[in-house]
Amino acid sequence: MLGNTKILGVFGHPVSHSLSPLMQNAAIEALNIDYIYVPFHVLPENLEQAVQGVRALNIAGVNVTIPHKEQIIQYLDEVSEYSKQIRSVNTVINDNGRLKGDTTDGLGFLKSAEAQWGKIDGSRVLVLGAGGAAKAICFALARVGCNIVIANRTLKRAEELSEGLQVAYGSSISRAVGLQMEVVEEEIRQVDMVVNTTSVGMYPGVSETPLPSCLLRSNLMVYDLIYNPLKTRLVGEAQAKGARAMTGLKMLVYQGALSLEMWTGRKIPVDVMEEALIKHFGKGSK
Ligand code: ATR
Repeated sequence: MLGNTKILGVFGHPVSHSLSPLMQNAAIEALNIDYIYVPFHVLPENLEQAVQGVRALNIAGVNVTIPHKEQIIQYLDEVSEYSKQIRSVNTVINDNGRLKGDTTDGLGFLKSAEAQWGKIDGSRVLVLGAGGAAKAICFALARVGCNIVIANRTLKRAEELSEGLQVAYGSSISRAVGLQMEVVEEEIRQVDMVVNTTSVGMYPGVSETPLPSCLLRSNLMVYDLIYNPLKTRLVGEAQAKGARAMTGLKMLVYQGALSLEMWTGRKIPVDVMEEALIKHFGKGSK
């Protein structure tokens, strides 16, 4: 580190479990660029001051994670159309003191899926869950002309998300349903891809799955956003059925790589970031 080293970081509460410093610094090292990426524990009541700090300290950019993704918008100078649409910012770019907010969550999802499966434009997709992650993904899918069914335990949340999509993309873009098995069984027959955005199957509940394996089939793409464990029960059962399945590690890597690309203008070695995470988890599965 020298006097010119540029600072990047992540604002979160909590932040100690964030994997972003690990994977971002791995990419920074591989690129041999003069940056460092650090965690910032920012309490909600200090968010405005922390944003002022980005300007005052000339921090080049920050990622933003729970619980600040929506609240930070009011303190920025401008935000992208996509961030406005989903009321979420995960990347702040400091452009000579002017702070611009954007989100790489949706594009990170799309890029990671396309890297693995090729173009998914126009696919029929069943999204399980209707929280923040589901929102970013649904709007990204809608942009590439996918048809979306949102299935959520709390139907009202799915309906609200679907209504937002319909306002932006027309009434035929999405539907909302409950998460009852008989409903999901009917819907899953008619889609090309399933995306799990719920926390069902996440450590420590690793024996759980949001979809019974009898509903899985070989010509289905299955994307589980969970990355702890690296291979969820859902991913394992999908692979056992011959389906193409992906874990949430890829989305984590791609959304981070897109942020680093925005800050540095460099082509980011996504494999280096993924390897750093896999090494951290101490397992060899992808
Ligand atoms: P995130 O920002 O990661 O999407 P979130 O906003 O808390 O997190 O959303 C969590 C999602 O997982 C929600 O869709 C939630 O369903 P509800 O809206 O009904 O709460 C879903 N979820 C969490 N635990 C679940 C469970 N045991 N069964 C089914 N869905 C669950």
